[in-house]
Amino acid sequence: MIVTTKTLFQHAYGKYACGAYNINNAEQIMGLFRGCTESKAPFIIQISKGARAYTDKRLMEAMIRAGDQIFPDAIFAVHLDHGDEQTCYECIDSGFYSSVMIDASHETFDQNIAITRRVADRAHAKGISVEAELGKLGGVEEHVSVDEKDACLTNPKEAQEFVKRSGCDSLACAIGTSHGAYKFSGGQGLHFEVIREIARLLPGFPMVMHGSSSVPQDEVTRINAAGGKLKGAAGVKEEQITMASTMGVTKVNIDTDGRLVWCRVHRESFRDNPENFDLRPPGKVFMAEYAKYIVHKNKVLGSAGQVDDLRAAITSGKLGK
Ligand code: G3H
Ligand code: 13P
Ligand code: ZN
Repeated sequence: MIVTTKTLFQHAYGKYACGAYNINNAEQIMGLFRGCTESKAPFIIQISKGARAYTDKRLMEAMIRAGDQIFPDAIFAVHLDHGDEQTCYECIDSGFYSSVMIDASHETFDQNIAITRRVADRAHAKGISVEAELGKLGGVEEHVSVDEKDACLTNPKEAQEFVKRSGCDSLACAIGTSHGAYKFSGGQGLHFEVIREIARLLPGFPMVMHGSSSVPQDEVTRINAAGGKLKGAAGVKEEQITMASTMGVTKVNIDTDGRLVWCRVHRESFRDNPENFDLRPPGKVFMAEYAKYIVHKNKVLGSAGQVDDLRAAITSGKLGK
């Protein structure tokens, strides 16, 4: 069942966070739905601009609709990750998305507000919610690369003003994480003091944590043992993710970890079966291993086991759909 992102946030705030998992292909979709159904976790399936262009956005949407039919117990929202203004409008007008992210964090404060406001007005007219970003995360996204030295944490006072003036429904906050497989080069962890202060100034307002992959070291070791070259890869400590999930961080974005599972499975598969040229054997292993990863991560987020309570809240009308 596809629900609004707002419903998921209302249920989760302060208790747990929803995993927002990036997907690009059918195997990821199958693994994600399987893992979330098995762990009874509500979730957010998110599509980046790059993912929409990888095969075809219509194929992505059709596969998600099929996932909804194949896994009738799943409760999830569909989200555009790191959209520009034009892509946000496309997704809003498509009628398929539960929420969009407008990422104008590279603009000035006032420009970021103005752009977010335009997107929010158009999205709200259709009942779609909007995630905005304030502050600068380090790391690499498809079109932007920010050196860790140029990254800057979200200022809580500015966040308060930003939310009021922009009309956004959730805020991606820079709290020390970065995108990709090489985080925390300075060795620091999450800035809980920033999370705490934003939660104090904006009580009940959902925060989003980007760059939340934990970059499991056993995955990195196995990838390197199978011919990979990932040196110094590191991620967010899981106990810190669990902690943030009870402090008002209600959406936790994970992409890199899924790519690592994919990379490990395929490297090992071709190393161990050099005669194989069929895509299905590694594809099957990947779906099972990705589902296993998702089950584990949903436990870390506290979203595992929440689906029945959420369904009851929706059915009884306590929460809208
Ligand atoms: O934050 C970016 C996400 O990891 C999406 O990555 O733009 O390569 O699909 P992508
Ligand atoms: P990771 O690179 O840590 O998986 O972060 C993904 C993300 O923030 C997607 O928006
Ligand atoms: Zn991101």
